[in-house]
Amino acid sequence: MIRQENCKVVSNRQIADNIFELVLSGELSAAMSQPGQFVHVKVGEGFDPLLRRPISIASINDGTFTIIYRRQGRGTSMLAEKTPGMSVDVLGPLGNGFPAGEAKPGRTAILVGGGVGVPPMYELAKQLARNGVKVISIIGFQTASAVFYEKELSDFGEVYVATVDGTYGRKGFVTDILDGLEADIVFACGPTPMLRAVENGNYAAKTFLSLEERMGCGIGACFACVCHTKDDPKGFTYKKVCSDGPVFQAGEVVI
Ligand code: FES
Repeated sequence: MIRQENCKVVSNRQIADNIFELVLSGELSAAMSQPGQFVHVKVGEGFDPLLRRPISIASINDGTFTIIYRRQGRGTSMLAEKTPGMSVDVLGPLGNGFPAGEAKPGRTAILVGGGVGVPPMYELAKQLARNGVKVISIIGFQTASAVFYEKELSDFGEVYVATVDGTYGRKGFVTDILDGLEADIVFACGPTPMLRAVENGNYAAKTFLSLEERMGCGIGACFACVCHTKDDPKGFTYKKVCSDGPVFQAGEVVI
């Protein structure tokens, strides 16, 4: 059930260049279960819905949850200044996340995350590993100072890191690593070109993609997130990323 709550800041720390990990406590955590869902966080004062930002849920725990965001612009800079004990207005959980149950015990799932697309992979990896699925994570960043959650993800399986400039891990893109691996199922979240490359690569029998980058209001009101379905690419059939997604099966929508 979706609810709005003033959650308490447990911690708010910088974990990479302009990337912050915010741990919040509140009853909202009890409503969260599916990896890949997001919350809509109010980053400023006033009533303008655009003061909210969609931020994916990185981890769900007993009484707390973790979100990871990039500090860019005034709103998220204000969020970065929150200290323990302060409160943050959060609406959620929103959207349809990753269908973790599609990955069967004993099978191999590859989790692909790019930049701020990495966080939802953490909760997904946790749930899959708990279900007996073999987890391989591939995470990609621009450069070494942007890398985060390599160690955290290694609790659940092998982790490969790619950086575009080659300053950490393998030089290149996540798909360069994906090319050499085999999986029964692929889950991906990251920038649109990355998702397109993962979809076009047909790396597994089933692939699920999270299109979170394509979001505006996050609550179904602005139509900024509309995408066409693949079977009607120029017609009137569309899906809203915020409420129908953000996760879609590869081949379902035009990305
Ligand atoms: Fe505004 Fe989906 S983000 S309708």
